[in-house]
Amino acid sequence: MRKPAYDMNIFRERRSKLGQDIQGAALIVASHPEMIRNHDVHFPYRQDSNLFYLTGWEEPESIFVFRPGLIPETVMFVRSRDPEKETWNGFRYGPEGCEQEFKIDRCYPIEEFATQAPRLLKEVNRLYYRLYKDKHSDEKIQSALENVKSLQGRTGFGLLPIHDADTLIGEHRLIKSEYELSQMREACEISAQGHLAAMRFTRPGVNERQIQGVLAHQFFMRGSAREGYGFIVASGNSATTLHYNFNDQKCRDGDLLLIDAGAEFNYYTGDITRTYPVNGKFTDEQAKVYEAVLKVQKDIIAYLKPGIVFKELHDMGTSMLTEAMLELGLLSGRKDDLIQALAQKKYYPHGIGHWLGLDVHDAGLYFRNGEPRAIEANMCFTIEPGLYIPAHDNSAPAKYRGIGIRIEDNIRITNHGSENMTTSAPKEIGDIEAVVGKN
Ligand code: GLY
Ligand code: MN
Ligand code: MN
Repeated sequence: MRKPAYDMNIFRERRSKLGQDIQGAALIVASHPEMIRNHDVHFPYRQDSNLFYLTGWEEPESIFVFRPGLIPETVMFVRSRDPEKETWNGFRYGPEGCEQEFKIDRCYPIEEFATQAPRLLKEVNRLYYRLYKDKHSDEKIQSALENVKSLQGRTGFGLLPIHDADTLIGEHRLIKSEYELSQMREACEISAQGHLAAMRFTRPGVNERQIQGVLAHQFFMRGSAREGYGFIVASGNSATTLHYNFNDQKCRDGDLLLIDAGAEFNYYTGDITRTYPVNGKFTDEQAKVYEAVLKVQKDIIAYLKPGIVFKELHDMGTSMLTEAMLELGLLSGRKDDLIQALAQKKYYPHGIGHWLGLDVHDAGLYFRNGEPRAIEANMCFTIEPGLYIPAHDNSAPAKYRGIGIRIEDNIRITNHGSENMTTSAPKEIGDIEAVVGKN
């Protein structure tokens, strides 16, 4: 029999912590639909991050029910074993395997959810569940809740109140454990090595797709199961499109190349962006814009410590990048007036970063009770300022048109400052020029 890839104590500890927050309640987390094209073209399934976070379970068509303090406390509904289907699509643990190997108290075939769920929910006073992610799961939950109500007879009880499970689990996911940090560091290092290999491979005439291949090769060879999000390999003016993903153009002498790519390792992902010249040598204009963005990125990273709020970082990024735009002649006027009018968004339309973890845009609130929250030790996030000057922007100085730059690192907050987990990917001009095209 296959064995789970993870130590089940990791997930038991997470459940025990989270359970303390929701005594008397039940939490339900469902897998999400498999990716199947034209009915029979299958793509590898990647578990829902919340379901994985709490169980380590990786199969589709599953629903997890958690009732802290009750017996059974953990219940999982999974696909039954099926020799024919397993011949086609691979091994399934089935309810028995799930119980035994994943240390879940009680497991049933997924078809039994409708009959078992009302019984399980009858004993709780509220439900944590994320509505509107998947219509089919929503229908199952809705019908279970209606059946709970009828089980209670004419007692006057209404439907169980539903709270958002994503918010609840997100708060736990936001602070990384030592184990999670070790996985994050590995995801970051693999990602950085991919970027380094891509830099060495890059030269005029190679195709963006080939560079994507170099990144993917490093990711897989170093133990990554997949990329954490779609590869962005954008040369020339394409770098001014934030989520360019055609990745099919030839890289031209004199152009910049922007790569935003991250490897996923044991479900945790890196998210690195580097920008560098295809021919290995920055022009004066490219260097000027690059140094401006790099300074913003380094200044913000140097400022990081527990207690500051994310919004402060957004505001710092906006202020410094607007100054850079003034200096480069992209905008004119008073900085504060420009920011007030959101004029800077023309060249810097995104935020300074986001939480990072099991998902590239990871779970967790940025505001609490209407106030921007303070950053605490062991939260992880990106810092990714950028400037994007489209080729067709006739109001920008001609020498800067077609330059798109983003520099993105992955950070953990420590007790007194921060740890940059992606330093293996060069970002100083001298260090970049020493490796691009040199393999
Ligand atoms: N790669 C997506 C992002 O940087 O947010
Ligand atoms: Mn990012
Ligand atoms: Mn990114």
